[in-house]
Amino acid sequence: MNILLLGAGGREHALAWKLAQSRLLAGAQDTLYAAPGNPGIADHASCVALDLTDHAAVLAFCEEALIGFVVVGPEAPLVDGLGDALRGAGIPVFGPSQQAAQLEGSKGFTKDLCARAGIPTAGYRRTASLAEARAALDAFEAPYVLKADGLAAGKGVVIAATRAEAESGLAEMFAGQFGSAGAEVVIEEFMEGEEASFFAITDGAIIVPFGSAQDHKRVGDGDTGPNTGGMGAYSPARVLTPMLRGEVIERIIAPTVKAMADAGTPYCGVLYAGLMLTADGPKLIEYNARFGDPECQALMMRLESDLGEVLLAAAEHRLASIPAPRFAREAALTVVMAADGYPGTPAKGSPINGLAAAEAAGARVFHAGTARDSGGGLVANGGRVLNVTALGASVAEAQARAYQAVDALDAPGLFCRRDIGWREVAREDAAAQTAG
Ligand code: AMP
Ligand code: GLY
Repeated sequence: MNILLLGAGGREHALAWKLAQSRLLAGAQDTLYAAPGNPGIADHASCVALDLTDHAAVLAFCEEALIGFVVVGPEAPLVDGLGDALRGAGIPVFGPSQQAAQLEGSKGFTKDLCARAGIPTAGYRRTASLAEARAALDAFEAPYVLKADGLAAGKGVVIAATRAEAESGLAEMFAGQFGSAGAEVVIEEFMEGEEASFFAITDGAIIVPFGSAQDHKRVGDGDTGPNTGGMGAYSPARVLTPMLRGEVIERIIAPTVKAMADAGTPYCGVLYAGLMLTADGPKLIEYNARFGDPECQALMMRLESDLGEVLLAAAEHRLASIPAPRFAREAALTVVMAADGYPGTPAKGSPINGLAAAEAAGARVFHAGTARDSGGGLVANGGRVLNVTALGASVAEAQARAYQAVDALDAPGLFCRRDIGWREVAREDAAAQTAG
């Protein structure tokens, strides 16, 4: 069949690389398309310049290219209802409906669902005006957690150390700092603990665990500086022990999938749970309606099953009919190379060389924000530019390989954190010392 992958980042490069190996594309005429794609994705797919906000154009392309399956990478087209438009035309789509994507598109929607279903998460208040929000602060203690309700590219959360900071944060949010995403603000109780991400694929009824990871959201080493979309990740997150994973499925994922089905808006796609491992057990921080970026890059390196078959089975509501997805026991770790200036205004156009040397050092380099210049050379074209990803018997080994590859790159306009995976590497060291 012909498959269309939507998106243009590192997550989509990893998905394209894995989809290209699928039996669904084994026929001589079968083609993987990507829209809009990027120079890395172009190694695995035929890239098409489509505007994903123009649903009619995407539909017209699907008809013309005889697309039999669409995989949606990022959240924006899901929240915007592109999946519904495609399904309406009879095309199977991996990714939730617009209504179900509210689990990512509205923090207030998710908090209300958790409250109704008894899902462990931080206490909260939804507020729709500055006056209401300031009054609501009385119900909380410092540090204050303030969240723009809608999509804000991972940047809509403010953690305020003092009441004065919280008040000025609220004022900026209601003044339009995050655009319409901040028309409503959710104030939350602060949760303490280690964060981890858990992925489940569901067809609306059946739930299939799909790996775990730990992300590094702050821009600087030692988790300092402003939040980003993610500076690196590793998988699996062993801090999520089998017992904790069981608890997450039973107390968080399963009641969510059931509540969505009961409401007549079944969730079909990948459910990405951001978790806080608190002294009282795992609690939900937030849901995303798509794979994590860069967590997906680490997951795809470990996935042994046929990605296309798993995603199509979810889209066709027949997950019960396929074997459980298998992942390598090895660890995978991905280091994000970002352009100078990120997460502020990233510098565009700096040259990127040495990709072959980096891959020869034992890593895969996924393209996140790259472009070709007029001479065909590769240049930076975004905030997060490359995702250098390696496997290893341990997280420490995967980390060492990834950084060897980073050092083989010649990309003077890019920077990265040097400590991706540090929590797990420290645990591995401690375990080795105990054993020794
Ligand atoms: P979110 O976009 O909701 O994932 O939040 C971004 C980051 O803010 C999370 O990864 C956490 O580090 C932090 N955060 C969000 N909500 C809370 C909370 N209730 N308590 C403590 N930290 C939080
Ligand atoms: N890496 C965080 C995210 O994808 O939301």
